Amino acid sequence: MTNYKPNIAIVYASATGHTENLACMIEDAFMRQGVHPAVFRAKEFDPAELCRYDIVLVGTYTWMNGDIPKQLHGLFEVMEQQEKNIITGVFGTGDRCFAAYCGAVDLFRDMLHAKTSLAATLKVEQMPSADDSMRCSAFAQSVLMKYSHHKGRLSAANS
Ligand SMILES: Cc1cc2nc3c(=O)[nH]c(=O)nc-3n(C[C@H](O)[C@H](O)[C@H](O)COP(=O)(O)O)c2cc1C
Repeated sequence: MTNYKPNIAIVYASATGHTENLACMIEDAFMRQGVHPAVFRAKEFDPAELCRYDIVLVGTYTWMNGDIPKQLHGLFEVMEQQEKNIITGVFGTGDRCFAAYCGAVDLFRDMLHAKTSLAATLKVEQMPSADDSMRCSAFAQSVLMKYSHHKGRLSAANS
């Protein structure tokens, strides 16, 4: 558990509920660490609000040919303009029948790695199961560790 309480936003798109379930499991994983993220469907989240959060986690399913769903295009474009001061993670669900398995997660991962401080990535095939709970906990731990290191570095620089 971290000594710091970050402001976390989880923003996700889900057409049939798999990614929504994964977002809930990730929210639960943070709550077990004593941290309460704000959770938004992509259409409810204003990308101009990004600066209010220490950590932004994006959840996405994958659409035709490995594409990002339309609801997340605006967020992708705004995050692309970020400097490295925001900590991020990306998670998503997909189907291995498709050549670009979880391609939207990969597209976000590559952009967030280049433009933000990317802490963790998680892919789940179709509907998450109870077995994925450990992976959600590991995802949350990685994000909080990155945040603690980041805060620690800032405190050291200011002391
Ligand atoms: C038309 C269509 C295209 C899809 N294309 C891909 C794809 O390219 N890669 C992939 O991994 N999954 C693909 N999927 C599978 C979905 O991403 C997957 O079922 C996902 O879990 C849906 O998430 P949701 O329930 O949150 O909407 C596609 C599904 C549909 C219906």
